[in-house]
Amino acid sequence: MHLTLRQLALFESVARNLSYTRAAEELHLSQPAVSMQVKQLEGNVGMPLFEHVGKKIYLTAAGKEMYNYSREIARLLNEASDIIEALKGMHRGKLSVSVATTAGHFATRLLAEFAKQHANITISLDITNREALRWQLDENEPDLVIMGQPPSGVEVDAEAFMANPLVMIAPANHSLSGQKQIPLSHFAQESFVVRESGSGTRDAIHRFFDRHGVDFNTGIEMTSNEAIKQAVEAGLGLGIVSIHTLELELETGRLKILDVQDFPIMRKWYILQRKGKRLTPVAQAFKDFVLEQAPQFIRLPAGFQSQ
Ligand code: PGA
Repeated sequence: MHLTLRQLALFESVARNLSYTRAAEELHLSQPAVSMQVKQLEGNVGMPLFEHVGKKIYLTAAGKEMYNYSREIARLLNEASDIIEALKGMHRGKLSVSVATTAGHFATRLLAEFAKQHANITISLDITNREALRWQLDENEPDLVIMGQPPSGVEVDAEAFMANPLVMIAPANHSLSGQKQIPLSHFAQESFVVRESGSGTRDAIHRFFDRHGVDFNTGIEMTSNEAIKQAVEAGLGLGIVSIHTLELELETGRLKILDVQDFPIMRKWYILQRKGKRLTPVAQAFKDFVLEQAPQFIRLPAGFQSQ
């Protein structure tokens, strides 16, 4: 059977309207053009599809079969076109992601990998503190947020995708470095270099020491993990940071992870969006990518790979 999709679409319209005139109006064609195409289709099929009784037209038995199939073909074509549009959407468009300061250490790597797989997308990344993230979620601004703990007071759809162990760091030559299972109580006398209030890491540390009934002394405050690592290296105090902020410092031996009882403090990374937010195809693809593949693109120091 030789027929074109165009002929099928014309036939479907005539059959549905049972009128050449209405089909011609619907398709913005002349009435003779429509009847000529239908004639050609009937020729291709080898059977009449309509019968004419007076001024009215009716579908023949073959016409009724053809009508059912033409509707099914139109439905499948629409479905295919929707899917292709969604796939195209994944390869263009904008993706805006906001991440907590600490997540900035790996978010760039994830976005770079995702960008390699999805050409022609425009990415914007905001690395900011928890309070700003909370405000952005209130305003429904970013497509997706990555943070260490879903915020309270705003409804979100959050999914955990990777462990976030917090470890205690000291300069390489520190007297405790090399000791095994140092009791937590030992650190009640120590002074720590800590993140600013509002940092998720800082909240988690306070909650951990409270839970274990040990005092925690905040010494100097800093707004970046990089600054904390440099301060610890310079001997300004001990630090507690996410393992995701450490790599080179351990490789080069500038900092050591102390072996402390009940450490690491186990946290998780979450990817989330405001509840009810409809994700764009690109944002959905990025979320799936993070949930399924994030750990394989994020390098961790030896001994933490399986966390
Ligand atoms: P940060 O950590 O806010 O200390 O950078 C991320 C988080 O816990 O949300």
